[in-house]
Amino acid sequence: MDIQKKIIQGPGYAIVKIDNLKIFGNLKKKFIEKMNLNISKNNFDDLRVKMTSMSKSEINKIMIKLLSFSEASEMMLNACKAKIKKLVGQEIFVQRRANTIFNLPGKNQRRQWPHYELMSGISPFTYVLWAPFHDLDDDGGIFYIDQKRSFEIIKKEHSKGLVNGPIILNMNYNEKPIKIKYGEAIIFNPFILHGNVNFDSKKARLACSIRFQSAKKPLMQKNSDFFKYKKI
Ligand SMILES: [Fe+2]
Repeated sequence: MDIQKKIIQGPGYAIVKIDNLKIFGNLKKKFIEKMNLNISKNNFDDLRVKMTSMSKSEINKIMIKLLSFSEASEMMLNACKAKIKKLVGQEIFVQRRANTIFNLPGKNQRRQWPHYELMSGISPFTYVLWAPFHDLDDDGGIFYIDQKRSFEIIKKEHSKGLVNGPIILNMNYNEKPIKIKYGEAIIFNPFILHGNVNFDSKKARLACSIRFQSAKKPLMQKNSDFFKYKKI
């Protein structure tokens, strides 16, 4: 099944190879520089270990430092340009600011609750590109519920007049987190339920994501404050 079919008609998500790993490598390098934690660029593992002992306010300070990293979105786009173009065409809306995602091991850490992207006001034509800055070789990944089951759960909620309410939040998901390698990314559609589980590791999990859609498809609540227009 080709990538497009997988993302639209199949499971709703696909693991893809990043088209230009040099650009993604530069994005990672810049990301480390902006974090400014006095750790050598070659010792990314040290940075991941250091992050696990940081307080929530220290993590917030890093987030503030990363606010100046406005090129991240463009770099993510350029790293996967061929795949994005194939999926949504040449004229696109792309998220102005890439999300940088930190997940720390252990209980009581912030984590992504099960959700689907559509509930945040993007259109049904928006896709998410999510890429880790390292191999996901422990249980610290994200789980994805395939499209068929996601729809069943969403419809069940919908019949009760709810959106991302207790049914989705409290459900027991036994899905194993996806194992992906540095140099790979996941593209998924906005109906796919996903979230991350508490995990045990000596290292934090760091990733980057952007949302994009065809400029020919309608926007919903997220408009040009959130997206910028781009011809690729
Ligand atoms: Fe998400």
